[in-house]
Amino acid sequence: MKKTKLVPNLTVLLYGPPGTGKTSLTRAFAKEFDIPLCVVESDRLVSALLGDTVKNIRKVVELSAQIAEENGAFILFFDEIDAIASERSNIHEVGEIKRAVISFLQIIDKINYFGTPLAIIGATNHQDQLDSAIWRRFTFHLKFDFPSFHLRKKIIESFINKISNAKIGVDDVILVSLNKEYALLKSKEEKLKSLMSKKKSIQDSNALWNDKTIIENRGILFLTRGYTGADLERGVRVALFKALKSDILTYENFVHSLELVGGTKIHVEQQYFLSASERKYSRDKKILRINHNHLEGPREI
Ligand SMILES: Nc1ncnc2c1ncn2[C@@H]1O[C@H](COP(=O)(O)OP(=O)(O)OP(=O)(O)O)[C@@H](O)[C@H]1O
Ligand SMILES: [Mg+2]
Repeated sequence: MKKTKLVPNLTVLLYGPPGTGKTSLTRAFAKEFDIPLCVVESDRLVSALLGDTVKNIRKVVELSAQIAEENGAFILFFDEIDAIASERSNIHEVGEIKRAVISFLQIIDKINYFGTPLAIIGATNHQDQLDSAIWRRFTFHLKFDFPSFHLRKKIIESFINKISNAKIGVDDVILVSLNKEYALLKSKEEKLKSLMSKKKSIQDSNALWNDKTIIENRGILFLTRGYTGADLERGVRVALFKALKSDILTYENFVHSLELVGGTKIHVEQQYFLSASERKYSRDKKILRINHNHLEGPREI
């Protein structure tokens, strides 16, 4: 056991909206620590034949435990774990769901008991639907959420870098406007924080996004509220198609592509998070795209 790279009982549940990086983080973690990883698409364990779901779960875990013992460490990743462990599961027969859940619980308990160097990671978009006993079996719960404007800036920059490295021209206006808009948002956020007693996150607060100066100078970060990393990636892909024609990724094309793909938040929340006046603004694509006011630099707030 001393030789293992992992602490026994490493069971982690990753939960949060689709496209926020649960699968990518797991893959990156395995790569970083050079630990073999088996990704299980949980719905593929579900069988129409009675009892086969439980057998499938057992088989995959037993094989992984064996490899973990031989290798010193192994990660078993149950992607979309709700497929086998929730009311939403694809298993139609209630008894079969119960048996699958119980089997899963027993397996985790067994792994923990024997200190098998097997990390079990589960990911779900439907945490509310997850069986509470399953939830409790995971030692760590890692919440994923829609990226803040700080993170969105970093993600966009990393994509832009990749495009530049691929020798595709990128209009400087994109990064210049991104930086200007970011500086304005950051300074506004700082001011709001100092006004608030608690240092709570205000990235989604109306006070920030309903601010007149922020709305007037809205750009990519304003547009991409409620976008996940995956949405941004899709926007970049669309923009790249457009760039093929002109050999350059323009600000206009980039914004238009991001508008085109839309954000995930609007799909996962019943109540759209924008106020009525903001909705009117974002519908007015012409204003949004041609708005380069923020290039003049942050204004006094
Ligand atoms: N925080 C992030 N930083 C950089 N890229 C991200 C981030 N989040 C998501 N992405 C991008 O989005 C893509 C999809 O993310 P991923 O599949 O990991 O999301 P997920 O949370 O597993 O989604 P799902 O719940 O639908 O399975 C990744 O390939 C990555 O390029
Ligand atoms: Mg995933």
